[in-house]
Amino acid sequence: MRNIIMDKEIVFSSRASKKSPYVFWLVLLFFIMAFGVYICGVSLTQVTVPSKPTKISFMRVERTCSINGIPPEELVYVHFPQPKTYSREECKCTPVRFFVILSMQRSGSGWFETLLNSHPNISSNGEVFSLKQRRQSMETIQRTLDTIYNLEWISSAAKNDCIAAVGFKWMLNQAVMVYHRQIANYFNQKGVSVIFLFRRNLLRRLVSLLANAYDKDAKLINGTHMSHVHTREEADLLAQFKPTLNVSSLIVDLSTAEHTMTESLEFFKSNRRMILYYEDIINNPKALSDVLEFLRVPVRKLKSRQVKIHIKPLHEQVNNWYNVYSTVQGSQYDHFLHSSDYIS
Ligand SMILES: *[C@@H]1O[C@H](CO)[C@@H](O)[C@H](O)[C@H]1NC(C)=O
Ligand SMILES: *[C@@H]1O[C@H](CO)[C@@H](O)[C@H](O)[C@H]1NC(C)=O
Ligand SMILES: *[C@@H]1O[C@H](CO)[C@@H](O)[C@H](O)[C@H]1NC(C)=O
Repeated sequence: MRNIIMDKEIVFSSRASKKSPYVFWLVLLFFIMAFGVYICGVSLTQVTVPSKPTKISFMRVERTCSINGIPPEELVYVHFPQPKTYSREECKCTPVRFFVILSMQRSGSGWFETLLNSHPNISSNGEVFSLKQRRQSMETIQRTLDTIYNLEWISSAAKNDCIAAVGFKWMLNQAVMVYHRQIANYFNQKGVSVIFLFRRNLLRRLVSLLANAYDKDAKLINGTHMSHVHTREEADLLAQFKPTLNVSSLIVDLSTAEHTMTESLEFFKSNRRMILYYEDIINNPKALSDVLEFLRVPVRKLKSRQVKIHIKPLHEQVNNWYNVYSTVQGSQYDHFLHSSDYIS
């Protein structure tokens, strides 16, 4: 930056110095100031420090709350919410981090949320934007986000008053991609950390999507549609259904999902974030402690009552396996045919 400014000075002095030194210095001064403001703006957006909190009171640190021990670069992510509807009482100085889980349907986010909510210091409020009226405009989205992060959201999972991390899960097709620019700005201004949760094996995800869609009508468990289950018996009942995949659109369907994933990573690249894969939570015992470290909450073992539905190899779960196999074989998705996220 400094070099650029020096260059400009040199250019100016060689051209203008002979005419009027007074005017020249004024112009130079103006130029340096304008350039400085520009550089500041650029670096602010890159460093993602909130330049202007939209609501001062929301971000305000209680005078009595100590921020000792919090590294300066972390301060933007630390909050002391002051809900209007109740008092946080003895927890009012417990610092709270904001997070969001950005994911896609049938990628393990429901399970992941129950794991997070088994932690005493985390509150994740579910799929808040599944309701259309909450995502119809950026205003309704922002109002909803403000309520969640001010610890005023009412949900069965809400622990509110005494927690250290608050968030919710948000599917990419629930207006995230539509308002991505404003949402990424909001996240940067409010210091919201993003957890991307994706499934590596998009073919398995497709099987789960189709089976879940089928159960919406079939209601295999005692006439009730279940997206998530808590016993092996229920899981096996749901897994009995073998979907037939449309092979004419299969490759396009897989690449559409993949494209959405990469695009969302691009949209939120300026935000503090981590990328997590469903398969890694299953296979890598350290994946969950990485999440807890990312959220700056004490590392401990997480538990969920949910039971995985599709635990068999893919060829046992797809009705038209032969066609699916020959369609995907040799394509860029060939590895989906062989990778296993099931427990053998
Ligand atoms: C986590 O929750 C426990 C139990 O409510 C509490 O004693 C502890 O202080 C909390 N820790 C943090 C970091 O908030
Ligand atoms: C179905 O309902 C019966 C009777 O209410 C109950 O005993 C059984 O556990 C239920 N089955 C499942 C799979 O939920
Ligand atoms: C399968 O995909 C093709 C191409 O997208 C589409 O035209 C057709 O309607 C689909 N078939 C079914 C049964 O959905």
